[in-house]
Amino acid sequence: MRQRLVAGNWKMFGNSARNQLLLEGVAGQAASIGQVSCAVCVPFPYLHQARSILAESGVGWGAQNVSQRTEGAFTGEVSVSMLADFGCRYVIVGHSERRSLFCEGDQLVAVKARAVLEQQMTPIVCIGESLDEREGGMTEAVVSRQLGAVIEEIGTAGLHKSVVAYEPVWAIGTGKTATPEQAQAVHAYLRNVVSEQDADVARDLTMLYGGSVKAANAAALFAMEDIDGGLIGGASLDLNEFMSICKAAVR
Ligand code: PGA
Repeated sequence: MRQRLVAGNWKMFGNSARNQLLLEGVAGQAASIGQVSCAVCVPFPYLHQARSILAESGVGWGAQNVSQRTEGAFTGEVSVSMLADFGCRYVIVGHSERRSLFCEGDQLVAVKARAVLEQQMTPIVCIGESLDEREGGMTEAVVSRQLGAVIEEIGTAGLHKSVVAYEPVWAIGTGKTATPEQAQAVHAYLRNVVSEQDADVARDLTMLYGGSVKAANAAALFAMEDIDGGLIGGASLDLNEFMSICKAAVR
């Protein structure tokens, strides 16, 4: 269902003491923000901490990656049922850092999205082009290929239960945000691509923008018709920044 959503992606940052302050702050303030769902995707070791602090708050929590396999001798991997066991609502799949640094391809990302859905959790499927691809006029081809692989695996019925995050790689962690118009153009394009297969799913699809979103630029991005919220990296580690971004998503 289309919703207003702001999700933090903590990446590999944090420690118990710092997380506690941040999570308690988010839990305390999020309740006052109507109509916007807030969530944090934390490193695996802190899922228990997130659950214990956020449980009664209305704030969702989740992970940043997951294994595509159910269980077995896969040293170092974490399964979807383990994440479900910790009450995760969301799992990020296909983040560009996973794609580029850990060689995750479209097909693997799609299989991970399916595994997440099978445990009744919501995959936040990340897609986005690199700077070279944008400059080469390839943006639409790249994002439709990435999303197409996921739709092929989970169908539009699966997409209906998923969230898509458009994150241009050149905007992630660089301080270089896409302009609201640039982001809107890609979101509208993607909604149109989905619409060709299923207009209802396209209308209901929650699409987040990610890439150097801050309190200062969030409202302009979230005012765009096809941008339903954000996936927030660096700024989600700062309580005031993150809460301002969540508030900026109120329509
Ligand atoms: P950023 O990261 O907000 O730090 O650019 C976004 C993301 O990687 O999801």
